[in-house]
Formats: sequence, structure tokens, C-alpha cells
Amino acid sequence: MINFKRNSIKTLAEAFSKKNTVTIERDYASEFAAYFGAKPKRNFGSGDDDFNHYGKLDDILRAVKSDTDFQDVFTPKQKETINMFRDGKFKRLNILDGSVRSGKTYISLILWALMISTRDYDERFIMVGRTITTLKRNCLELLQELVGDANFSYSTSRKEAELFGRKIYLEGADNVLSEDKIRGMTLAGAYCDEITLLDEDFFRMLLSRLSVEGAFLLGTTNPDRPTHWLMRDYIKRSEELDLLTIKYLIDDNTFLPSDYIEKIKKEYVGVFYERFILGRWKAADGVVYPLFANDSEKYIKDSIDPEIIQYATIGIDFGGNGSAHAFILNGFTKGFREVITLDEFYLKKEISPEELESEFVKFVQRAKSTYRVYEVYCDSAESTLIKGLAAAASKAKLGVSVMKAKKGPIINRIRFYNMLMSKGKYYVLRRCENLIAAYKDAEWNSKSKDKDERLDDGTFNIDSLDACEYSTEPYMDEMIERI
Ligand SMILES: Nc1ncnc2c1ncn2[C@@H]1O[C@H](COP(=O)(O)OP(=O)(O)OP(=O)(O)O)[C@@H](O)[C@H]1O
Ligand SMILES: [Mg+2]
Repeated sequence: MINFKRNSIKTLAEAFSKKNTVTIERDYASEFAAYFGAKPKRNFGSGDDDFNHYGKLDDILRAVKSDTDFQDVFTPKQKETINMFRDGKFKRLNILDGSVRSGKTYISLILWALMISTRDYDERFIMVGRTITTLKRNCLELLQELVGDANFSYSTSRKEAELFGRKIYLEGADNVLSEDKIRGMTLAGAYCDEITLLDEDFFRMLLSRLSVEGAFLLGTTNPDRPTHWLMRDYIKRSEELDLLTIKYLIDDNTFLPSDYIEKIKKEYVGVFYERFILGRWKAADGVVYPLFANDSEKYIKDSIDPEIIQYATIGIDFGGNGSAHAFILNGFTKGFREVITLDEFYLKKEISPEELESEFVKFVQRAKSTYRVYEVYCDSAESTLIKGLAAAASKAKLGVSVMKAKKGPIINRIRFYNMLMSKGKYYVLRRCENLIAAYKDAEWNSKSKDKDERLDDGTFNIDSLDACEYSTEPYMDEMIERI
């Protein structure tokens, strides 16, 4: 504790001495603004000028100004986008859409800084992400790296930032309540991360807040289905709404090594390939797991050595009204490298809660006889049944905790399994015949307008798939980062 205190005093002292000795060398915001033909009025302080941390601004300024000397700083596509802004081709709403890893976020943050540099100091701006956390991870940290902490500072707890001396609000906007957060604001500019994932009402409200002369919106997104509100109500009405979209493709990103690009392209299959690699707004139809449907034997194992399983988790989907009760036991190999479905229980008939509990106890005991199992994730819609299982688990001294599944967006869970399959990181034991059939047969519901979902008309077994996903959901993000 004492050491910690001493250290922080030392850090503070160092920061202060830096602050007092370093003098400002360049006012980059003014240089950018001058290049774009703007002279912002300086009505109040231009920010914390004492720090001398400029990020990559020297290089960026040089590359913005030069038509030949930019390749080490921007991709040709990014440079073209900056020139469009310089040439007055930007509109009120500007959306960079397209493939993953194509350089949209990187350049959009630089553009945001450039656009801000042309604005008056007393204007107000906003940066929006699905949540403040995703905004920080995707954008705020990178923006600070790019322009330096002399020019961009932020506080996620105060939900405020300052870029080139202009005040920026920070907001998360992933649900209906988000709309209230910006009611009544008067904004000159907005930056949106992952627009298709924002709440639709929030986005509509945001546009109504952009009421200052010349106010603009800049954002990035991956494509979604053609009936998504962003396509249906905005992009399709580009002309009428003064909206510009610029398409970015993964091959545009000249900073990525070509073998890395090839690797990423293989990770996306079916509709995900169309959207995230080809950058198309494409409806999900046909089979959900094309790799499994085409060559299921590749993913089926007759047996495995239990020693390779670090530990296993159980997912449960409750039946009723024509759907089945499904339990799935998924094992993780060492270092979370692979997921292997080890066992299943599947029953498509009405049974009493007591019978369900007894089947559950048997299933967990069987699992525990071979594997380390501590966690059970259940369909969260059924809290009485969950309580029943938890009580049964404790009575039978199973040593597992019975929890509600997270149930995040289904599309993410489906993409996760397709990604595992594409990388040869998912296997299922042959004994799990219901799950195997489910992976072979699953189809998209092409009639669904509001969201991507699997067809659930009573003939397809989506219960085993749900259960399978619940059990791995808590580890999904970590695995995506590792594999
Ligand atoms: N001009 C650049 N200089 C150096 N690195 C770059 C540049 N542009 C992009 N990159 C790098 O390429 C990778 C992908 O870029 P970015 O994150 O901007 O893509 P994206 O289109 O936003 O992708 P996604 O749709 O997955 O969010 C990142 O690691 C980024 O740092
Ligand atoms: Mg991005």
C-alpha cells in the first residue's frame, strides 16, 4: 500500500514537471483547418496545450497534404476518402461501410479529427458506440494514439472528451432507453461506431440533434441484412437525406500482409462471407452451417482422449410447447484452443419438473465421471426451472453452479461456431446424434425481416443448438481473440 502511494506520488510529480517544462511546438488543428480552407472561431480555451504528445500527427499532416507521399500513412482508399472531404464531397451524413479489417475505423477517426479541426471551438460533438466500453476499445484508445494525448483526452466515467480543444460527449446507445440521453442536445457533429448495432430510435433522435449549420455525422459499419433499418430507412434514401456511403473492402487495406488477408477470408462462410468479406448487404438464407452441412464427417469424432479436455461446461435449453429439452456438454481443450461436444441429452416430450431434474442429475453425474465440470448455463427465460435444477444439483451434491445463460445476439453465437468450424476448432462426438443432425439441417429463416434467425417451424432442432451455444457463450470472446 505504502509503495503504491509512493509510486503514484512519483508519477504525479513526474507528470507535473513534464507539464511545466514542455512547451507547445505546433498547433496541428489550425494547420489542418487551414488546409481544408476553414478558420474556426476561437471562443474559449483551445485545450490542454502544455503536453507535447502529438501521436502520429506529423506523419498524418504530411500525408494529408501530399498527393504522392502518403503510402506509409494511408492506404490509397483512405487517401481518396480524405481528398473527397477536402474537395467538399462529404455530405451531412457520411458512412464508411464494408468488410472487416478494411481500415474504416482507422481512417474514420482521422477524418473525425480533421473535420473537428475545421469547426468552431464552442460547438458540441458526440461520439457514440454500442456501449461506452466498446467505444473506448474500438475508438477512443486508437484516436488518442493517432492524435496524441495533447489533442485528445477522455473520461469514460464523466462521458466527456476533448479533441483539438472541442468538447465531445461520449454515449452508449444499444437500447431503447439510450434515446433519452441526447434529447435536447444541440450538436454540430456525431461519430458513430458500428452503426447497425446502435438502437434505431437513438439514431433517429441523434439526427434530429444535429441541428447546427453544417452539422454532420460520420460513422462506420459492417453490412447487415438488406431489411436492416440503416439500409431501409437511410442508405436507400441517400439522395433525399444527403447521405454519402463509401465502400471499404478488405483488399483495400494495403497495411495487412496478404497471407493474413487470406486467413481472415477463410474464417467467414456463407452469409458472413458475403457481408464481412465482400461487404454486401445480404439476407441470410439457405443453410446456417455450410461447412458442416457439406462435409460433416470432418467435424465428427468417434472418441477422444478425455485428458485433452481442460474442463467442460453444460448448456441447457428447456422444452415445452412442441420444443425439446436439450442438454449439451461442451469440452474445451487446453488453452481454449478447441471446443468439442462430448455428450447430449435430448427429449422431445412433455415431462414434469421432477423428471427433468432427475435427468439433469444423471447427465451431470455422467459428465463428472470423466470430465471437470463446474458450470451449467440455462435458458434464462425459465427461472423456476432453473431454481429447480439448482436445488437438485445442491441436493445431489453435484458441485456445479447452475446459472442463467447470457443469451447475447444469436448472430454472434452462430458466427462463432461457423468460425470455429472454418478453423478446424470444433468437433462433436458421434454419440451426439441430435446435435449433429441439427448442425447439418439448420436453415436461415429467410422470411424474418427484423433479425437474422434460424428457421424454427417445429421441424428443425434448434434446441440442441441453443443449448450448445449457451454453454460456450461466456468464453466466446476470449476464444475469438486466441484463435
Ligand atoms: N493507415 C493505416 N496505417 C496503419 N495501420 C492501419 C491503417 N489503416 C488500417 N490499419 C490497420 O488495419 C487493421 C484494420 O483496420 P480497421 O480496424 O480500421 O478496420 P475496420 O474496417 O474498421 O474493420 P472492422 O469492420 O473489423 O471494424 C487495424 O489493425 C488497423 O490498425
Ligand atoms: Mg471498425
